[in-house]
Amino acid sequence: MKTFKNTLLVISAVVTLASCGGSDNKTENTTPPANPPKSLVADVIEVPADVNALLEKNTCLTCHKVDEKLVGPPYTTVAENVSSVEEIIGLIREPKPEHYPDYPEMAGIDISDEDGKVIAAWILSLKK
Ligand code: HEC
Repeated sequence: MKTFKNTLLVISAVVTLASCGGSDNKTENTTPPANPPKSLVADVIEVPADVNALLEKNTCLTCHKVDEKLVGPPYTTVAENVSSVEEIIGLIREPKPEHYPDYPEMAGIDISDEDGKVIAAWILSLKK
């Protein structure tokens, strides 16, 4: 009798495990993603006030918009082609026109380390 009971226990345990596995079904998860894909919000990128002030002070806004072509490439495009703050500061001081053959040449801007770091870190943050 004891072994019969044990067998029943084992069977029910196996059945429980099996049904657990069965309910782990991805199609049942109907929770929408917490954040919409970045591409959907690309046109509402907000420039932080401190960054915007520096872009204005250093005349960057005359030629660059965040996600639209102006005289120069959008910062979102620039962001995809760089990988560090130092690299960006270097490119602001000494742009490489060959990076953007469809654009006129940007004259290097003698940006301060302080301003350059803030602007470059922000540009880097636009990377998708
Ligand atoms: C007179 C217009 C003009 C101004 C002002 C300007 N840019 Fe540009 N920028 C361009 C153009 C045009 C390009 C693309 C051609 C090139 O790289 O030379 C460019 C390219 C860049 C690049 C990519 C460089 C490369 O070679 O990969 C960065 C980074 C950049 N700009 C940042 C800035 C920042 C930051 C400022 C402000 C401090 C600024 N730009 C001011 C016109 C301008």
